Amino acid sequence: MHVHYISFLSASVLLCASIPSAASPDAAINVIFPSSPPASSAVNVVYDNFLGISFELSSFNTLWGENTSTVPPAILNYLHNIRSRLGDSSPLRIRVGGNSMDESVYTPKQTQMLTFPDPNAPSNNIPTNFGPLLWDVMTAVSTMVGGITYLVGLSMREDMASWGEGNVVDTAVAARKALGTALDGFLLGNEPDFYSGHGNNPGYNISLYINDVGTILDGLRNSPSGNLIQSPLIGGPTVCCGWDLKNVITSGLDGYNYKYYSMQHYPTHICGGENPTNTNMSYFLSHSNLDAFVSWNQEGIKLAKASGIPMLLTEYNSVACGGSNISDTFAITLWAVDVALKHAASNFSSVYLHTREYGVRYNLFDPPSAPPDPSNLNVSSTPISLKPGWRTGSPYYAELVLAETLSRSGSVVVDLNLNNSETNPAASVAAYGIYDSGGSTRGKLVLFNFADTDSKLNQTFRVPGGLKSIVETRLLLASAVDARTGITWAGQTVGEVGDLQGDQVTVNTDCWNGCAIQIPGPGLAVVWVGDDTMWTGNSTLPDFAVNGDCRAGDAHYAPVVLAVVIAGLLAILC
Ligand SMILES: *[C@@H]1O[C@H](CO)[C@@H](O)[C@H](O)[C@H]1NC(C)=O
Ligand SMILES: *[C@@H]1O[C@H](CO)[C@@H](O)[C@H](O)[C@H]1NC(C)=O
Ligand SMILES: *[C@@H]1O[C@H](CO)[C@@H](O)[C@H](O)[C@H]1NC(C)=O
Ligand SMILES: *[C@@H]1O[C@H](CO)[C@@H](O)[C@H](O)[C@H]1NC(C)=O
Ligand SMILES: *[C@@H]1O[C@H](CO)[C@@H](O)[C@H](O)[C@H]1NC(C)=O
Ligand SMILES: *[C@@H]1O[C@H](CO)[C@@H](O)[C@H](O)[C@H]1NC(C)=O
Ligand SMILES: *[C@@H]1O[C@H](CO)[C@@H](O)[C@H](O)[C@H]1NC(C)=O
Ligand SMILES: *[C@@H]1O[C@H](CO)[C@@H](O)[C@H](O)[C@H]1NC(C)=O
Ligand SMILES: *[C@@H]1O[C@H](CO)[C@@H](O)[C@H](O)[C@H]1NC(C)=O
Repeated sequence: MHVHYISFLSASVLLCASIPSAASPDAAINVIFPSSPPASSAVNVVYDNFLGISFELSSFNTLWGENTSTVPPAILNYLHNIRSRLGDSSPLRIRVGGNSMDESVYTPKQTQMLTFPDPNAPSNNIPTNFGPLLWDVMTAVSTMVGGITYLVGLSMREDMASWGEGNVVDTAVAARKALGTALDGFLLGNEPDFYSGHGNNPGYNISLYINDVGTILDGLRNSPSGNLIQSPLIGGPTVCCGWDLKNVITSGLDGYNYKYYSMQHYPTHICGGENPTNTNMSYFLSHSNLDAFVSWNQEGIKLAKASGIPMLLTEYNSVACGGSNISDTFAITLWAVDVALKHAASNFSSVYLHTREYGVRYNLFDPPSAPPDPSNLNVSSTPISLKPGWRTGSPYYAELVLAETLSRSGSVVVDLNLNNSETNPAASVAAYGIYDSGGSTRGKLVLFNFADTDSKLNQTFRVPGGLKSIVETRLLLASAVDARTGITWAGQTVGEVGDLQGDQVTVNTDCWNGCAIQIPGPGLAVVWVGDDTMWTGNSTLPDFAVNGDCRAGDAHYAPVVLAVVIAGLLAILC
């Protein structure tokens, strides 16, 4: 221990003596955690379900099964792991939508959950027709994992001739009836700023859009089931690229009583192939790039905040159009956590990591293999999806970290600008302060070490004293920034059926007089310095549901049975 460290910690050095001394080449970094958040941050209180998952509709059958009897055990574990970490009143946030939903038709008489009318569709835009089984599966899975709140896409690309009376209204009526209180809202249209450029609707502009939205809302107000939007239920504009959010809002969206404003954002894309920008891992490891990333649409976001309308990032991930070779690395796990916290600190109410069909490199999870006939997606993938052997993508781990870090009591998130990391590209560290109980009390520190040290050199972070006598730490680790497997959160890694393997590890450190927390590079630590509940337990569903053994003999176990099992009556059933 060097001299500076000893003088800073004075009496506490002995108490912290069980922590090995820093082997880091960098000096220890002082973390300053002010007793209350700045007023400009205190206005944005977020909850433990802040980080949701966005599913592209066209991949939904390969991930969630095709009816309520064939929901893959793996997806149940993946979702249950997250839901278990949330408070009772914080359902898991799921969005079902994307380009494929915007190009889709609801067909009430269709007996399959999804069908794919165009075998030659491009992978970034697969038209998908869906039947009522979609709502049944969504409802059943919500019950099975303990509560989900859904955002559902409403198409603005189909049905144009009969807007206000046709399929959009039918879809909304059916979804609202079937999902009930599990329906969070509808996202009307997907990336309308691309309708012109992608040739869906040449010449489309904001004023035409505002007018069309008005027509559809009239239809939803006068539906066969009455006024569907008596209470606000619609979100939008879900812009991604071309239109300025503030401009869309002030051009007329602000007159429509929206429940949410929404946008989607990726830092780069691979639509035209691999290039030095979309394979640049350094970009994702530099916290200083996030200020620019989060500043897109800042004026519109401020306007949303001022109007009291929650702002959602309904899709994000590393590289749009399917990811690059960096999208499945540990660098992206760290980045996905960093992005989520940065948006929580920047007036967003929720953000959703996006996941798609098999083989997309930024996915949170993939079934064991590709659909049996990629040229005919109507052919069932269920036999494959029911098997073990799922791949967990590196972004998935961000879900576990956020669910544990943000509080059910409401958190205010502040970028502590550690080592000037908000602007300094040379900083290899970053830190957030999490204020819990609605922002009134210091709850946790999230500490990042982006350094890629083969020898696992530690960076020492000095945590201030006077917060808690013994602080608890959990680590997010992997062997290197380009590691694609072997990622662990609190000592656990995700196995082949979405199950968390290994014992949950929490390190206790005496800290009343301050303490040193060591984080290997690369790595991240969440340090509990307040009174918020720390989640402990085993979120893996019981064996029979996850290992497939019972499936072999009984492919038709009822969802209600599984729900009962989750409620705790484990042993008797299998
Ligand atoms: C559910 O889907 C499976 C696999 O496609 C099928 O065998 C089974 O009959 C379906 N169950 C119901 C109730 O439709
Ligand atoms: C898939 O099913 C849809 C709806 O029944 C049908 O229109 C389409 O032609 C089918 N695709 C193939 C490749 O058979
Ligand atoms: C949008 O397009 C319509 C139809 O071409 C045109 O009349 C209108 O002026 C355009 N609005 C703006 C703001 O460009
Ligand atoms: C890669 O990212 C780093 C860090 O942000 C940046 O300095 C560099 O210019 C980027 N290189 C390319 C080719 O985009
Ligand atoms: C990704 O591909 C680029 C270009 O081929 C290569 O330079 C880079 O090392 C690769 N990165 C990883 C993590 O595989
Ligand atoms: C969040 O909104 C508040 C209140 O409108 C504002 O003062 C603050 O600057 C906003 N924060 C960011 C990061 O834009
Ligand atoms: C902190 O910033 C200084 C100045 O840019 C830089 O030299 C140093 O490497 C940084 N240390 C860490 C751990 O980020
Ligand atoms: C580095 O940090 C880890 C995690 O805090 C700790 O287990 C390990 O002992 C430290 N290594 C050294 C050499 O201090
Ligand atoms: C967690 O629960 C699952 C299902 O009951 C079980 O298979 C697994 O061994 C448990 N894990 C631990 C670490 O106890």
